[in-house]
Amino acid sequence: MKTQLPERIFLIGFMGCGKTTAGRLLAQLINYQFIDLDELIVQKKGMSVATLFENEGEENFRLLEKQVLAEVFEMRQVVVATGGGAPCFFDNMEQMNKHGISVYIKLTPKALLSRLRNAKEQRPLLKNKSETELLEFITQMLQKREPFYLKAMLNIEGIGLTASDILRVIENGSGLA
Ligand code: S3P
Repeated sequence: MKTQLPERIFLIGFMGCGKTTAGRLLAQLINYQFIDLDELIVQKKGMSVATLFENEGEENFRLLEKQVLAEVFEMRQVVVATGGGAPCFFDNMEQMNKHGISVYIKLTPKALLSRLRNAKEQRPLLKNKSETELLEFITQMLQKREPFYLKAMLNIEGIGLTASDILRVIENGSGLA
């Protein structure tokens, strides 16, 4: 079964959609290595994403993100959780589709809000936002980003998502359209 799987599986979607959790479980299930793109950046630079944004600005973070993504394209048998912004800059989405298979984990703004409410502090784009501001921000940003996310080869509903669900979608070659 494993021989039919792509060498690289990219999980994409908005912050809080569950890319890291689902990715880790999927990697275990198919015996692939799990890579968290943000984590690779943090290791490379020796500072947190929040500090990177603060010290070097978002533009430099996006350049780094692109560089690290290119390194991942050299790896084999990996499940990669990408940061929520990664698909939306440069030609990252096209590159991911060229080097592997991409799966968009889809959630509504309200569902994202309930997951992000208590996980804002380490995310520079969400920090210091009130509940109302947060929902508005998620709704608007998702609207802007979804055209990029929808370039994914497959997409899947994020509520109650399991690693087996993702595997099934990859093996069947179809998800929600
Ligand atoms: C970002 C998402 C974050 C991280 C950075 C920017 C974004 O990753 O890359 O804070 O632009 O959506 P997660 O999606 O893993 O939170």
